Amino acid sequence: MKSLLLLLIVCFSFLVFIPRQTQGIQFLVSCGSNSTSYADSRKWVGDDLSSNNNFTLSDLGIAAFNSTSVEDTGYTGFGPLYKSARFFSTSTSYNFTVDPGNYCVRLHFYPFQFGNYNSNDSAFDVSANDMKLITKFNISDEISWKAEKTNSNITSVVKEYYINIDLNGLQIKFVPNLNSFAFINAIEVLPTPDNLFNTNITKVGSNGLTTITDRAMETMYRLNIGGPKLKSTSDQFLYRNWDSDENFMFSVNAATMVHNTSEISYVTLNYSSVAPLLVYETARVMGNTDVVEKRFNVSWRFFVDPNFDYLIRLHFCELIYDKPNQRFFKIYINNKTAAENYDVYERAGGMNKAYFEDYFDILPQQTDTLWLQLGPDSLMSGPGTDALLNGLEIFKLSKNGNLAHVLDWTSLNGNIHPHGSAKKRLLIEEICFAIACVLALILISGGYCWYIRGKKKSKMAEDAPPGWHPLALHEAMKSTSNARPSNQVVKKYVSTPSINNRTGRKFTLSEIKAATKNFDELAVIGTGGFGKVYRGEIDGGSNIVAVKRADPLCGQGLKEFETEIEMLSKLRHRHLVSLIGYCEEKGEMILVYEFMANGTLRSHLYGSPPPADVLTYKQRVEVCVGAARGLHYLHTGSEVGIIHRDVKTTNILLDEEFVAKMSDFGLSRAGPTLDQTHVSTAVKGSFGYLDPEYFRRQQLTQKSDVYSFGVVLFEVLCGRPVIDPSLPKDQINLAEWALRWQRQRSIEKIVDPRLKGDYSLESLKKFAEIAEKCLMDEGKNRPSMGEVLWQLEYVLQLHDAYIRERESFRSTGELPFGDVPHSLSHIREDE
Ligand SMILES: *[C@@H]1O[C@H](CO)[C@@H](O)[C@H](O)[C@H]1NC(C)=O
Ligand SMILES: *[C@@H]1O[C@H](CO)[C@@H](O)[C@H](O)[C@H]1NC(C)=O
Ligand SMILES: *[C@@H]1O[C@H](CO)[C@@H](O)[C@H](O)[C@H]1NC(C)=O
Ligand SMILES: *[C@@H]1O[C@H](CO)[C@@H](O)[C@H](O)[C@H]1NC(C)=O
Ligand SMILES: *[C@@H]1O[C@H](CO)[C@@H](O)[C@H](O)[C@H]1NC(C)=O
Ligand SMILES: *[C@@H]1O[C@H](CO)[C@@H](O)[C@H](O)[C@H]1NC(C)=O
Ligand SMILES: *[C@@H]1O[C@H](CO)[C@@H](O)[C@H](O)[C@H]1NC(C)=O
Ligand SMILES: *[C@@H]1O[C@H](CO)[C@@H](O)[C@H](O)[C@H]1NC(C)=O
Ligand SMILES: *[C@@H]1O[C@H](CO)[C@@H](O)[C@H](O)[C@H]1NC(C)=O
Ligand SMILES: *[C@@H]1O[C@H](CO)[C@@H](O)[C@H](O)[C@H]1NC(C)=O
Ligand SMILES: *[C@@H]1O[C@H](CO)[C@@H](O)[C@H](O)[C@H]1NC(C)=O
Ligand SMILES: *[C@@H]1O[C@H](CO)[C@@H](O)[C@H](O)[C@H]1NC(C)=O
Repeated sequence: MKSLLLLLIVCFSFLVFIPRQTQGIQFLVSCGSNSTSYADSRKWVGDDLSSNNNFTLSDLGIAAFNSTSVEDTGYTGFGPLYKSARFFSTSTSYNFTVDPGNYCVRLHFYPFQFGNYNSNDSAFDVSANDMKLITKFNISDEISWKAEKTNSNITSVVKEYYINIDLNGLQIKFVPNLNSFAFINAIEVLPTPDNLFNTNITKVGSNGLTTITDRAMETMYRLNIGGPKLKSTSDQFLYRNWDSDENFMFSVNAATMVHNTSEISYVTLNYSSVAPLLVYETARVMGNTDVVEKRFNVSWRFFVDPNFDYLIRLHFCELIYDKPNQRFFKIYINNKTAAENYDVYERAGGMNKAYFEDYFDILPQQTDTLWLQLGPDSLMSGPGTDALLNGLEIFKLSKNGNLAHVLDWTSLNGNIHPHGSAKKRLLIEEICFAIACVLALILISGGYCWYIRGKKKSKMAEDAPPGWHPLALHEAMKSTSNARPSNQVVKKYVSTPSINNRTGRKFTLSEIKAATKNFDELAVIGTGGFGKVYRGEIDGGSNIVAVKRADPLCGQGLKEFETEIEMLSKLRHRHLVSLIGYCEEKGEMILVYEFMANGTLRSHLYGSPPPADVLTYKQRVEVCVGAARGLHYLHTGSEVGIIHRDVKTTNILLDEEFVAKMSDFGLSRAGPTLDQTHVSTAVKGSFGYLDPEYFRRQQLTQKSDVYSFGVVLFEVLCGRPVIDPSLPKDQINLAEWALRWQRQRSIEKIVDPRLKGDYSLESLKKFAEIAEKCLMDEGKNRPSMGEVLWQLEYVLQLHDAYIRERESFRSTGELPFGDVPHSLSHIREDE
């Protein structure tokens, strides 16, 4: 009897839990179309009412068809759908006949031109039954935001929602804003398995559960961690796209990718609709096995809409270890502990078993970033300290019947530009081409160097309205994002027509003259081999810029100048000084850069007059991390890689928030693949920073930059010039002198006394070790810039941990583990 009952329960649970794709009908609607089309390997019906499709449209609006309108990235596979759209100038709704239940709704928007209607001019609200999905939709803002936050070159917006429908029918309503109109390209309504989301979810930072009912959700991110993009065709249930995660990682080098494709299965059958198995085949684990003590976090950062609650779904599957206790870790969401002592093997009950874990978190007020971090469990020190993650989804939860968030660039400006290299991939070919041109330029123009140097920094920093840089950057980004497919681009290089708007803003000479008070000598903030750099005010004084005016005697040709602009405008990165625009008029060749309020790194380390404010140890490390990131991008951001060739503290500039940016990279040269010529006659670079190997063999590699960067690291640590002829002979050359101390493991004796010992000794030692490795005699023994970057981040974490321990020591009186506050006992030997 009992077993019969059990059998019944088992059968019943199968009935309930096996996801049925055909539970309810699905709608794939191609709006504005009168025919059936195939896109994304699926069949879509036109919304023309001549056939009964089980849905109605309250107002026909305007059916728009434009055969030349094609989505140009070819990435989504939705091209055919984006040839038609429907425009509405009055409130209009699609009514779908559906049963009560859970549905996934996707809305496709693609900028579309039809007669006088251009989607770019539309402004409207969208709701689904009573749930507000979108307010004040602005397609071009939406695309720019997404392209930037996800570091991709998207051209369309697909919004995905999960909605519970409790009465018959789904009404998707488009309401144009005042004097405007609405548009839509395609709509998907897909029934979802009831058990796709649990109602009771672990709340981060408390031991309790949160019950989520009657809330709608919007998908913010869906990532295949450590693996490639997965197309919708690999998901038989909901046709979800999975992006790759590297653009969201705080430090890609902190984690390595692993995969195992054999025999992965779901922990329980009902998980099969949660994510395709492909997601579980790849993962990231903690990187860099050199570090015995893995005291760091693997971190991902996401931009999200402020003032909402989020559901964070982590997908796990242990791919490597076949027993428990091999790796356990902590999960942090928004710097709060979500789980401790987490052992994937144990939770799944085995290896290669796929499952997921959901967390609920309320973002702090006004926060627009969401952090996910996996780190060691300090209670469990030892070899088992490692982390793993296979997939990640972030959903925004509705609040009081609302999911809409109005993008507000002005309020976001303070926080845009995560760290990534926007438009990287799109531009690779263009960069290659530009590099070839720059090579030619270098050969022609020979020795040629320029730099901006910020002076009178504090006054100017006050003058500069906060947060204008990102705005200017954003304008420039927008113009580069307009790039069309590449055949046009190549032609452009060949025929050199006048520069178009992809290269940033074009200034007139009179604008430049007004900005610099007719090249006022008082506005000069630096000079270089090519001419002078002026501080300029544009846009009626609201924006400050650095204006580089080429000296006509320098002989740089117009064509090279244009190539230079092209190249510079392609190299966009938070840690590279960006080009805002240019001016070519009456034989003048002028470049306009973002203004770096805090000038050169060197001016903050030493010199005359001595720097007023001493950079703290943490600031110094952060500056080095930033510069390393910029260099790493130069080295790896394009296929050929770019060698800076003149890494030094005067080419590292600091903005008003002391964010470090590399400058002078426009004159760098392409990496080894293009560098077969070896025509370089004189060894270029700056004395004191020069790679001895480059000197010997006249061969340039990225490791030459690493060497120079090593010198920078010692310069930052010791706070003295790289060459100081006033010192005794054995101290003149910083690199040699510092290396001697470092080899004796007594680097702390020559640290900048102005730091007053306010740093973690452990962190300092690590820092010096990196510098030492960078200065290895042979390039092949030096680390790559990526490794340097990763190690420096570790240095920062060591220091932060020390500060935290010291604070807790101060507040609790308990002696911390590890570092004893050595500053108490530490005595510096005077030179
Ligand atoms: C369908 O729409 C296309 C494009 O607007 C039009 O050329 C064609 O005549 C329409 N066909 C029917 C049967 O209405
Ligand atoms: C409309 O719905 C009915 C039942 O729900 C179904 O049999 C029919 O095929 C649907 N029609 C279309 C065009 O999808
Ligand atoms: C669509 O549905 C709403 C409510 O569900 C109803 O008020 C409206 O009249 C319907 N429109 C059409 C064209 O069926
Ligand atoms: C960007 O565009 C290029 C070509 O237009 C395409 O090959 C590439 O896949 C796109 N990248 C992304 C991330 O969409
Ligand atoms: C809409 O604006 C974007 C720039 O914001 C532009 O790239 C695109 O071509 C425009 N689309 C149409 C159809 O005009
Ligand atoms: C189709 O789109 C292109 C550009 O997107 C535009 O130039 C053209 O005018 C549009 N055609 C019609 C019929 O509106
Ligand atoms: C959309 O946003 C862009 C840039 O923020 C703005 O130029 C444009 O006027 C907006 N469109 C509408 C219809 O408001
Ligand atoms: C899967 O089924 C189990 C019971 O067999 C249930 O506890 C769990 O919530 C279900 N999970 C999902 C995602 O449906
Ligand atoms: C969720 O928790 C509530 C109590 O907080 C409980 O009554 C309910 O049964 C739980 N639901 C599920 C599906 O576990
Ligand atoms: C992949 O998983 C299988 C077990 O299914 C295991 O035998 C094998 O060692 C794993 N491969 C790696 C590289 O860990
Ligand atoms: C990892 O991140 C969490 C949350 O931000 C933080 O509390 C912890 O100290 C970090 N661990 C390390 C080793 O940096
Ligand atoms: C959370 O942690 C990240 C990385 O460690 C840090 O940058 C951020 O400032 C922290 N946020 C808060 C609110 O402490």
